[in-house]
Amino acid sequence: MEISERSARLTKLKQHFTPSRPIRAAEQFVGRQEEIHSVLGTVAEAGQHALIYGDRSIGKSSLANVCGALVTVTNPSLKLIRVACDKVSTFQSVFERILERLDFSLDRQETSQSVETELDVEGNLLALKSGAKRRTESGVTRTREKVEITPARAAEILQSRKCLIIIDEFDKIETLAEKHLFADLIKHCSDDCDNVTILLTGISDTATDLVGAHQSIPRCLKQIKLNKMDASEIRTLLVDRARATGLTFEDDALRSIVNLADGYPYYAHLLGSKCCESAILRDGTRVSDRDLQLGIAGAAKDSDESLRSQYLRAVRSSSLTKPSVDLLLFAAAQCPREFTLEMLQNKLTELGVSVVSPRLSTQLIRLTTDDKGKLIKARGHGYFAFDDALMVPFVRIVTRAGY
Ligand SMILES: Nc1ncnc2c1ncn2[C@@H]1O[C@H](COP(=O)(O)OP(=O)(O)OP(=O)(O)O)[C@@H](O)[C@H]1O
Ligand SMILES: [Mg+2]
Repeated sequence: MEISERSARLTKLKQHFTPSRPIRAAEQFVGRQEEIHSVLGTVAEAGQHALIYGDRSIGKSSLANVCGALVTVTNPSLKLIRVACDKVSTFQSVFERILERLDFSLDRQETSQSVETELDVEGNLLALKSGAKRRTESGVTRTREKVEITPARAAEILQSRKCLIIIDEFDKIETLAEKHLFADLIKHCSDDCDNVTILLTGISDTATDLVGAHQSIPRCLKQIKLNKMDASEIRTLLVDRARATGLTFEDDALRSIVNLADGYPYYAHLLGSKCCESAILRDGTRVSDRDLQLGIAGAAKDSDESLRSQYLRAVRSSSLTKPSVDLLLFAAAQCPREFTLEMLQNKLTELGVSVVSPRLSTQLIRLTTDDKGKLIKARGHGYFAFDDALMVPFVRIVTRAGY
């Protein structure tokens, strides 16, 4: 095959398998019909808002994006606003961005005075910030001040608007006080803004962890827990995307990828992409067992960097301990999400490793410490779990890859 033909196939592959990017278009989105229905129902109902929560990389942003896209098709006059939070986000900073998208300025003109000094380009940029001064054409400097925004005032501004506001990565908002300001906004919007829906998304095991306990929230905030995708959905995702690239899977290879992906669309994209890439590089049209092996190795190397470094930190110098930390983690990854010492010990026995409880307990507890990257957390009542659920399929993948 010509190099150009091969590279065209690889380019097409990257368009269909997108492990690093949320889905934006409905036609790219697989399954989750119930959840879509839930979100669309929320948007249709005045006074209702929604919270999509679940594990990391389970598909929260994709679901929110796709629902946003579907809503604007049936309701073109509705404005779709999407903002993502980060560690320094506050209610004020997030809402300022929402208002920018609504072409609403919070600047309040405070004072005017004559000036003699020249302001440079930077001066103009500064004028956008709180309390900054800007030289006008007439040589007069106006001092602008940002208005402090409260949830009640924010709802007042939104009252006359028709919009769906997606606030993504809400888990990044750190303080409870800030979270409560958003909860207050939702309550105010629920009471006063018939045409505004707020859709929050964030990583969490529970809705309360994400928004904090707030008396009036449960009534107006629909909580949509995003679970793992069904094996059949993951299979459809893989088969359809491979087909779009001119590839099919051998049955065993497909079964192994579906098992390793463990319901996470992220891993389906990553493994699918790596296995298909291997088939394309040898000019094949069917993903074989050999492609599977190479694909797993590629996925182990290209997985999320934070998972890889956390894992490497935990297993370093593992050869000095028995069982080795990688084996212990592999056994833990075969246990239920929350497991006891006894369950882990039984799993190790199944794997042909016998270890006495006190030693295993010491090792497990070490994995909950900073020194070992806090890979495992104690859940109380003698139960343990991986701190990040996404680590479970990762451990299985790196073990299969012989990492
Ligand atoms: N229903 C779906 N169909 C096909 N691909 C999906 C689906 N849902 C998610 N994906 C893919 O899975 C990966 C993770 O999705 P997404 O970024 O939406 O997850 P997330 O939960 O928002 O992640 P994070 O916790 O990092 O914010 C992406 O590659 C995305 O393209
Ligand atoms: Mg996301």
